[in-house]
Amino acid sequence: MFAFQPSFLSLVTCLTVVQAALAAGPLPGQVKNLVTFGDSYTDVVETGDGGTAWPVYAARDGRFQLFPFARSGATCSNNITPRAFPSVFEDELPLLFTEEANGTVRGLNPSDTIYTLWIGTNDVGVGALLTGNGRNSPTIVDTVSCAVNWVNTLYQKGARNFLFQNMIPLQKVILYSPDSYPNRFWTLPRNTTEWSIMMTELTQGGNEIARLMLQALPSSLPGAHIGLFDSHALFTDMLAHPQLYLNGTAPLNITGAVRSCVFPEGADPSDTNLAACTIATGTDVDSFLWFDELHPSEQADRVVAREVAAGILRESGRWTTWFS
Ligand SMILES: *[C@@H]1O[C@H](CO)[C@@H](O)[C@H](O)[C@H]1NC(C)=O
Ligand SMILES: *[C@@H]1O[C@H](CO)[C@@H](O)[C@H](O)[C@H]1NC(C)=O
Ligand SMILES: *[C@@H]1O[C@H](CO)[C@@H](O)[C@H](O)[C@H]1NC(C)=O
Ligand SMILES: *[C@@H]1O[C@H](CO)[C@@H](O)[C@H](O)[C@H]1NC(C)=O
Repeated sequence: MFAFQPSFLSLVTCLTVVQAALAAGPLPGQVKNLVTFGDSYTDVVETGDGGTAWPVYAARDGRFQLFPFARSGATCSNNITPRAFPSVFEDELPLLFTEEANGTVRGLNPSDTIYTLWIGTNDVGVGALLTGNGRNSPTIVDTVSCAVNWVNTLYQKGARNFLFQNMIPLQKVILYSPDSYPNRFWTLPRNTTEWSIMMTELTQGGNEIARLMLQALPSSLPGAHIGLFDSHALFTDMLAHPQLYLNGTAPLNITGAVRSCVFPEGADPSDTNLAACTIATGTDVDSFLWFDELHPSEQADRVVAREVAAGILRESGRWTTWFS
């Protein structure tokens, strides 16, 4: 009798662990609607990749109905990093709530609907954290806490399925690489080595803060499925093994861009006549990881779409971790 008890208890413990693991993440086939938030990496109208944005491909790959709310130029909040663009908290979320209230958006049943957020590129970038701009001297802790709070905010409105896409290794985009050149996002003199070091810290540190905060959320948000899509790891793999992902007719290119425009130092970045541009066209474009000095290419976005859809459909756990 006494000998039985410990093994009975460990059996109970074991079953509880197994049940928790099975309950993590939506079931295959559960999700029918994809509601996307973010910046130009995710905007389906003003696309950043020179072609079709990833949510359109993800909706196709996953057979989801798409509700796109991401806006080019967005940060998490203009109260933290004010910029002349819409933001997730002041514009994107309020638009969803207004459109649900007035019937423009219908049918977002909590169990059938997943909400995604890919944000941070502008929050940590020029005109924000990198250049010391923001309200009340914000740090990476403020911008990442804001992004994670997107989960809480939607949960309070009834949402239950969430996929948080972390920041890519931004020190690898041309704007933040050590061998950068003056481009349409920044033409002033700068120390490109220091920018690249700082960007490595911001993206890696920020992603780790996000992971720890997301991991801690499930206990206070019962019934939620909270997942992390590791964009950082996916882009790191695309950089290491471009031949597995890029398929254009030019030599594979992870350092240049489909549209690369070199400005004279100090020039007005809006004066495109001043720029010396190299532009790839046709089937060559799918050889590039980057579209321009800041954005992933359309082929990179097709990969993001395929992997996000596979994560939601539970066909692949390679880049997606479900915490609950
Ligand atoms: C609902 O709200 C949105 C956003 O403000 C607006 O564009 C749309 O016209 C409204 N629709 C109705 C039926 O009021
Ligand atoms: C740029 O920053 C790096 C790292 O701090 C430093 O080693 C280098 O000398 C700087 N370059 C210039 C031109 O100031
Ligand atoms: C590269 O692969 C994608 C699918 O991932 C396909 O849609 C595209 O047409 C391919 N590009 C070329 C140039 O073959
Ligand atoms: C990559 O693209 C850039 C244009 O942005 C070009 O200058 C460079 O030569 C290309 N590199 C390779 C390996 O083709």
